[in-house]
Amino acid sequence: MKITTTLAAIAMTGTAVAALAHSGATGIVKERMDAMKAMGDAVKSVAPMMRGEMDYDADAMRAAARTFQEHAGDAMTELFPEGSGGMPSEAKDAVWEDWDAFAELADRLAVYAEGLEGAAGNGMGQGGQMDTGAMMGGDAGSMMGGGSMMGDASGMMGGSAMMGEGGSGMMTAEHIAEMPTDAAFTMTTEVCSACHSRFRAEDG
Ligand code: HEC
Repeated sequence: MKITTTLAAIAMTGTAVAALAHSGATGIVKERMDAMKAMGDAVKSVAPMMRGEMDYDADAMRAAARTFQEHAGDAMTELFPEGSGGMPSEAKDAVWEDWDAFAELADRLAVYAEGLEGAAGNGMGQGGQMDTGAMMGGDAGSMMGGGSMMGDASGMMGGSAMMGEGGSGMMTAEHIAEMPTDAAFTMTTEVCSACHSRFRAEDG
């Protein structure tokens, strides 16, 4: 009886800890999770359009691009003060050990998202994406063309293979604004993936 109770208590503690990791964040950690979540929701709101399951709506893409801009660059890095890692945060220590690389990705997101806003009226590319693919190196060409990678936002976020370490230099917003919308969207969301694969702990 006593043992059962203890086991139940342990089981409950485990559940509580798991719940805490997702909802118990407070202060600045909660703020950055909320900001990230807003961006995740923005990706989800346009992903069906990128898959061709919904009619393309340039204004919706612009709105998503603005959401990314709002939470990128300094707005993002200032939510990661030194010492704010550890439970319940999923941020790795690497954020602070490798701050310059982290901040560079946050800035890159701001630039690419600005480009994406400009590219929102360009329409979907056909062969045009191959340019981007060649630039990204590796398998990027096939990746860019494939609707499958847009399949689900979380899978896309988790993928690290698609972004070779330091494989591509930073592009300008003007350059991205010239791209087909889907290529610009892919470029932008790859910044999310690149940062997550390096600086965010796997959460199963
Ligand atoms: C410069 C690095 C960086 C960039 C760029 C970045 N993220 Fe994140 N993201 C993180 C880190 C680190 C965490 C973990 C934060 C924590 O738990 O304290 C995170 C967490 C998240 C989460 C989980 C939030 C939660 O509720 O726990 C989502 C969703 C997310 N990011 C979406 C995105 C999307 C979408 C983009 C691109 C539009 C993006 N992120 C760009 C670093 C980044």
